[in-house]
Amino acid sequence: MLACPVCRDSLFFGDGALRCSGGHSYDVARQGYVNLLGAAEPANADTADMLDARARVHAAGVFEPVTTLLSSLTEGRRRVMEAGSGTGHYLSAALGSASDSIGLGLDVSKAAARHCLRTDPRIAAIVADVWKPLPVRDRAVEVVLAVFAPRNLPEFARILRTDGRFIAVTPRAGHLVGLRDAYGLLDVPTGKAEQVAAAAAEFFDLIDTRVVKYRLPVSEALARDLIAMGPNAFHQVPTSVAASTITIDVTVQVFQPLP
Ligand SMILES: C[S@@+](CC[C@H](N)C(=O)[O-])C[C@H]1O[C@@H](n2cnc3c(N)ncnc32)[C@H](O)[C@@H]1O
Ligand SMILES: [Zn+2]
Repeated sequence: MLACPVCRDSLFFGDGALRCSGGHSYDVARQGYVNLLGAAEPANADTADMLDARARVHAAGVFEPVTTLLSSLTEGRRRVMEAGSGTGHYLSAALGSASDSIGLGLDVSKAAARHCLRTDPRIAAIVADVWKPLPVRDRAVEVVLAVFAPRNLPEFARILRTDGRFIAVTPRAGHLVGLRDAYGLLDVPTGKAEQVAAAAAEFFDLIDTRVVKYRLPVSEALARDLIAMGPNAFHQVPTSVAASTITIDVTVQVFQPLP
């Protein structure tokens, strides 16, 4: 499934490293991930603290309806890549129950790669930048997921099988609106899904769109984790966050590659 970021040849595992026939090799870190970034981790990579907060939010089931929907939309698919995979929570769900499914968790954060490996043994974790040519062979994957994560549309189209699916999850204006208003968090720009559809039209047909919207009560600790797991964590996380009822409001779009 993997391609050498230098010469694009297939990568194979041997002698503790990934190697291509062109003689390039990439060490597997002690924790089990492979770093194909070829540069220092950028400042916007999620930190270990953000990932721990995200893992607690997922463990508490805050995004369970989104997870269940993604799992049903990817049923029977066994080669899945998640771009900006974070903890690997959605990737693991998308792999279903088959033991021979293979997930590729691609994230620019080493802490995310470490987390992914702990989430599901079927996940191979790669540290790479989604905006660079992806270290994945042409038409090698059945599903690409981008859940609250950056989307490299031409590259997603290249690595997807002709019958594959690209699934994007983006926030709507109402997403976490109460928390955002109360704590001055970054705004969600409106019309995100429409922008994704317009940009994707060059490579994909949009075949399904679902809005997932619900409210649920969260404890103080969980409300703080919802702030600490996102981009606001790069600025400031309030020390005390009140328990409240939050709104989850997202769009899930399913695309198939143009013939
Ligand atoms: C908001 S988190 C979403 C994580 C996961 N998809 C989820 O919803 O639980 C965005 C993730 O994208 C990663 N990321 C940001 N920029 C990236 C890039 N250029 N290439 C790869 N990953 C990136 C971050 O490190 C972070 O783990
Ligand atoms: Zn090579």
